[in-house]
Amino acid sequence: MHFITLILGTVLLNQAYSLECHCSQGSVCTNSKIECPSGQSCSSERHVSYSDGSKMSDVNLKGCALPERCVNRSMNLGVVQTLISSSCCTTKLCNSANAPEPVQSQRNGKSCFSCVGQTCTSSLACTGNQEFCYSASVTVDGQPIPVRGCVPKEMCQGHSSCCEGDLCNSASSTSAGLLLLMAPLLSLGLLS
Ligand SMILES: *[C@@H]1O[C@H](CO)[C@@H](O)[C@H](O)[C@H]1NC(C)=O
Repeated sequence: MHFITLILGTVLLNQAYSLECHCSQGSVCTNSKIECPSGQSCSSERHVSYSDGSKMSDVNLKGCALPERCVNRSMNLGVVQTLISSSCCTTKLCNSANAPEPVQSQRNGKSCFSCVGQTCTSSLACTGNQEFCYSASVTVDGQPIPVRGCVPKEMCQGHSSCCEGDLCNSASSTSAGLLLLMAPLLSLGLLS
């Protein structure tokens, strides 16, 4: 009897916790569908990057997300600014619609250094949830290029490249997470 209860319980739990969502890429995304791990929602994100005020990429991403990722966010690295709108939902295949075009948030009173070429002395006004300053260096064609700017907390997790406080990012540092961060720039040829 206990055994049957256990089996029933497991089946019910599996039903309650496995959520099927639309997905846009990745090895676990087959036929544009994915089973999300327990605790995650279906998510739809739109990542729009601007350089010098003009749009240089606009990408829709779908898949699974932890609740803390289901927020609008942005980063500003001076040469490039990326705005992300995010919407999440928790019913089967509910994320078919694309997320809305992200809009620029208000200034939040914080400021960080950003770079123009090799010089990183311009002050950048942070917006929205850009609570941290970022500092890293990327090597392109053998030449180190400094990258500084305003980023949200989620881009700082596990990195020593972030600091909190106005204009705290004057020192140079490198980050393993940088490649991830710079991938859109590199793929667009902005840094080459
Ligand atoms: C996220 O941004 C979109 C516009 O891009 C807006 O419609 C939505 O209300 C925002 N969500 C939150 C939680 O601020």
